[in-house]
Amino acid sequence: MAIKNICCMGAGYVGGPTCSVIALKCPEIKVTVVDLSKERIAQWNSDKLPIYEPGLDEVVKLCRGRNLFFSCDMKAAILEADLIFISVNTPTKTIGNGKGRAADLKYVEGAARIIADIAKSNKIVVEKSTVPVRAAESIAKILIANQKQGVTYQILSNPEVLIGGEETPGGKEAIEKLCSIYERWIPRKNILTTNTWSSELSKLAANAMLAQRISSINSLSAICEATGADVSEVARAVGFDSRIGPKFLQASIGKRTRLNLSVSFYLHCISLIGFGGSCFQKDILNLVYICECLNLPEVAAYWQQVIDMNEYQKSRFTSKIIESLFNTVSGKKICILGFAFKCNTGDTRESPAIHVAKTLLDEGASLKIYDPKVEEFRIFEDLTHPSICESPEEVRKNVLVCKDAYTASEGCHAIVVCTEWNEFVVLDYNKIYEKMMKPAYIFDGRKILDHEALINIGYHVQTIGKQLGKPAVMRSWCTNSVD
Ligand SMILES: NC(=O)c1ccc[n+]([C@@H]2O[C@H](COP(=O)([O-])OP(=O)(O)OC[C@H]3O[C@@H](n4cnc5c(N)ncnc54)[C@H](O)[C@@H]3O)[C@@H](O)[C@H]2O)c1
Repeated sequence: MAIKNICCMGAGYVGGPTCSVIALKCPEIKVTVVDLSKERIAQWNSDKLPIYEPGLDEVVKLCRGRNLFFSCDMKAAILEADLIFISVNTPTKTIGNGKGRAADLKYVEGAARIIADIAKSNKIVVEKSTVPVRAAESIAKILIANQKQGVTYQILSNPEVLIGGEETPGGKEAIEKLCSIYERWIPRKNILTTNTWSSELSKLAANAMLAQRISSINSLSAICEATGADVSEVARAVGFDSRIGPKFLQASIGKRTRLNLSVSFYLHCISLIGFGGSCFQKDILNLVYICECLNLPEVAAYWQQVIDMNEYQKSRFTSKIIESLFNTVSGKKICILGFAFKCNTGDTRESPAIHVAKTLLDEGASLKIYDPKVEEFRIFEDLTHPSICESPEEVRKNVLVCKDAYTASEGCHAIVVCTEWNEFVVLDYNKIYEKMMKPAYIFDGRKILDHEALINIGYHVQTIGKQLGKPAVMRSWCTNSVD
């Protein structure tokens, strides 16, 4: 029997877009996305979706009410589903054993208990959340311990287009059923199938290795700045070697989106202020924790270094800003362009912009922030989060969220580019220069601007992985040094 009815638990960044595409590509399947948060479901049912993703609005508008539904009625959706995705959050634990590193599986466990409680017919349960290896076993334990007579479960692990399941006839059949859904838009040869544990580990491994590549090139960017090499040139040369390849070594890569269910959707430019996004840091911390639990301290230390390098890159960038502004930003106005962790999203989780803004606020600066897709309330929530902020009042006093880049930069001593939005590339920097304090500084944390043109206008420009010259007006003062 083919899948006719899908329920997705968790209407977040993964559940919402994934199910929207399934509904689009499989019009004969009814897809219902449920969430514990009534507010989130109401947003999915409104004209203003809770998340921004290019193309998502159109897909939702086309399918919503046809075969795509967002609902708080979890019971009805689970009862009628043949297949249930668990797409709930797996944040890093903030208390107890493994605090700060292990993935907190309480939401996954909660979802499994709800399924066990409600289900009255056979279900394929698909673990879409990123989980530690053998988490599927925990889901199975909960489901089996609460199994009703005649109800059977197949548990699959399905990060992106990798499907892991049991090597039993029932497991293989469940894998085939899920494959048949993805096959509607992904060639069969691109859908990998493995055993459950390989699938779970592969997701963590892929994120860890991609983050490692970013940390590697970022470590080289520090050497470039100290020596006069240019990290873009180094990256191009290194990537020319077919054994290494150019991907993720370029300052800008072709990004694919969640709508493509690609493994690389949260990747972005390298040689910048450090990687962000909801997954990399959390998943590597989780990997480190797993290694420690498995008594593999050397392996744990190896992966920990990828995170440490990312932290170093972020703090190196902010230190550079402060040093350049005569070693103090106290009382200065700084414009932050971009707050999302990458362009084409309103997602700010682990965004390097948060680190930059927090450090500058701690040093006494006042900030004017603009991002095309991040809402004002989100910026304030991030900057006043108790984990990084002791005085929300101070933040509210010193941060102004602006409606465009021109307003944001007016009267500022410096502009800091934190997200690689294309609109920042095409701004009228002559016009902006006129209205800034002088000397006017630009810190390009994403390597997206035309630095020579900016220097010719009169800006002092700093970027990552490359030394830049002084503005034309300053050259006669100081011929042999760089900023
Ligand atoms: N964001 C990404 O790009 C991405 C990519 C790959 C994998 N993942 C993984 O997918 C998972 C989900 O990520 P996300 O970014 O969508 O998270 P999210 O925080 O955006 O959404 C999770 C949603 O699950 C809901 N939820 C929690 N418990 C629930 C329950 N019992 N029943 C119904 N809903 C429940 C929450 O209210 C929340 O709305 C995580 O494990 C994450 O690591 C995320």
